[in-house]
This record gives sequence, C-alpha cells and structure tokens, in this order.
Amino acid sequence: MNQISYRGLFDLSGKKAVVTGGAGILGRHFCAGLAESGATVAVVDVQESEALEFAKSLTDRYGGSHIGVGCDVSNLSSVTTMLKEIVEKFGEINILHNNAAGKSDDLDAFFAPFEQYSLGQWRQIMSVNLEGMFLVAQSVGKQMIAQGKGGSIIQTASIYGVMAPDHRIYEGSFYLGRKINTPAVYTASKAAVIGLTKYLATYWADKGIRVNTLTPGGTESGQNDEFKRLYSARIPMNRMAHAYEMVGALLYLASDASSYVTGQNIIVDGGLNTW
Ligand SMILES: NC(=O)c1ccc[n+]([C@@H]2O[C@H](COP(=O)([O-])OP(=O)(O)OC[C@H]3O[C@@H](n4cnc5c(N)ncnc54)[C@H](O)[C@@H]3O)[C@@H](O)[C@H]2O)c1
Repeated sequence: MNQISYRGLFDLSGKKAVVTGGAGILGRHFCAGLAESGATVAVVDVQESEALEFAKSLTDRYGGSHIGVGCDVSNLSSVTTMLKEIVEKFGEINILHNNAAGKSDDLDAFFAPFEQYSLGQWRQIMSVNLEGMFLVAQSVGKQMIAQGKGGSIIQTASIYGVMAPDHRIYEGSFYLGRKINTPAVYTASKAAVIGLTKYLATYWADKGIRVNTLTPGGTESGQNDEFKRLYSARIPMNRMAHAYEMVGALLYLASDASSYVTGQNIIVDGGLNTW
C-alpha cells in the first residue's frame, strides 16, 4: 500500500481559488475556509469595496496574498476583465467556486406573487444566478483547459433547486425588513445550476476538470423567530444551518479528497430533503 497522507488530501497549499459572491454571508466563510486550507483566494463580488476589504482581512488572518476583484458576473466584459486580472496576479486558477446569486434592489418585484411576476424581474435574477454561472464557468474553464492540469469547479445551488418550498412556512415570516417568500425564479435558476453542473462534469471529465454542486439549506442570517420556528419544524435536525457548516463540503469538493467525484450534488440541509 502506498504511503498516503489522508489528511493531506484536503491540503490546498499552492492552489489558486476564485470565489464569486465572495463578500456575501456564505461567501466569506467559503473564502476563509479555502484560505485556511492553504489556497490563495480571489474574492470576486459586484460589491468591489467589500471584496477588497475582505481579501485584505484574509491576508491579515491567514497570510498569503489574497485579492479582491470587483466584477458583475452577469456581464461578459466584466467577467473577461476579472479573469485577466486574476490570471495576471495568480498565474493560474485551480479552483472555481461559482457562488454568486442576485437579490433585487426592488424587493416588491422580487417577492411578487407568481401570477404578477414581471418578465424583467425574472430575467434580472436569471442573469446572475444562471447566466453568471455560465459566463464564469466558461471563462475559468477555458483557462483551466489551457493550463492542462485539470481543476475543480463547485457551483452553489439551493435546497429550493432540489425541492419546492413549503409555502406555509412564510406565514408570519419577516426578513430584510418585510414579509418574504421564495420566488419561482429562484427555484428555477437553482435547479438549472444543478443541470449545468452535470453537463459540465461529463463534458470536461476528459480534461481532468471536476464539476460538482454544493446545495445549502436555509442558513441563519437574521430571520425573525417565527420564520426560524416554522422553518426548523420542517427540518429533521430541527434547526437552521450556521453559515460555517457549509464549508466542510466545499473543502471536500475543492480538494483531492474528492478526486474521483464529479457531477454530484452535496446537500447540506439538516436532512430536509430526506423525508
Ligand atoms: N443563505 C442561505 O440560506 C442560502 C440557502 C441556499 C442557497 N444559498 C446560496 O448560497 C450562495 C451564497 O448565498 P449568501 O447567503 O452568501 O447570499 P448573499 O446575498 O449574502 O451573497 C451573495 C453575494 O453575491 C454578490 N452578487 C450579487 N450579484 C452579483 C453579480 N451580478 N456579480 C457578482 N457578485 C454578485 C453579492 O454582492 C453578495 O456578496 C448563493 O448562491 C445562494 O443562492 C444560500
């Protein structure tokens, strides 16, 4: 038997990682987990100043030379510029976490009932949640192919891309200063992310590029007690997730610990999809 360091399979030393939506609630944990595991991280986000500031805090905390890059993933020229900057600074990209998802500035339009949902709002969300993943996977995938060393791509979906929401849990909910729901465009976009992952996994398998989905369940981020109670009652583990609980699955998928895993979806939902 060869002498393998099993713990070493999770080591990301020397790897260069790109995380879109890296300045968000989960994105910050994802970036920090990659940095602590040895990767050099590009924090990519449409909120440029947050990305720059957070990348600096990663360097202060973990050492290395992490960078922040402002980029709108739904815009081709912005994605092209982002890729160029990262390749110039890092030399190569080994890990892509396609993680950004859009919220609307117009919450009334975003949370509108399906019967009144506007095509413009639908397209705006799709342009980030799905087209953004397409554009970033396409540009980073081309870069990985040119490098000739394979790579790992992880795409964030949502439990509501795997199963429909139980709409009853939104009675009495309050978040972002208002009553909320999960709009159909969110479920449709996240279901499509899982499809895109499967397609790319088989398409790029012969290039050594693995592509997998990470599917979070509902994560605590300031929802009111009534929402937390109703959501938790649907969960076998009887609680919402903490944001850091998503990181283990990412580190597994990003590293050689999952070297024979592609096209899969790791669901981190406290068991919600099980019953
Ligand atoms: N938090 C949850 O409960 C939960 C549950 C299931 C799935 N998810 C998924 O996890 C991922 C991260 O979610 P989060 O909770 O951190 O959300 P978040 O809103 O805190 O973070 C999303 C980040 O994406 C960025 N972003 C938005 N539009 C962008 C664009 N056009 N270009 C580049 N960046 C853009 C935002 O600025 C933000 O920093 C998302 O894909 C989300 O759908 C989250």
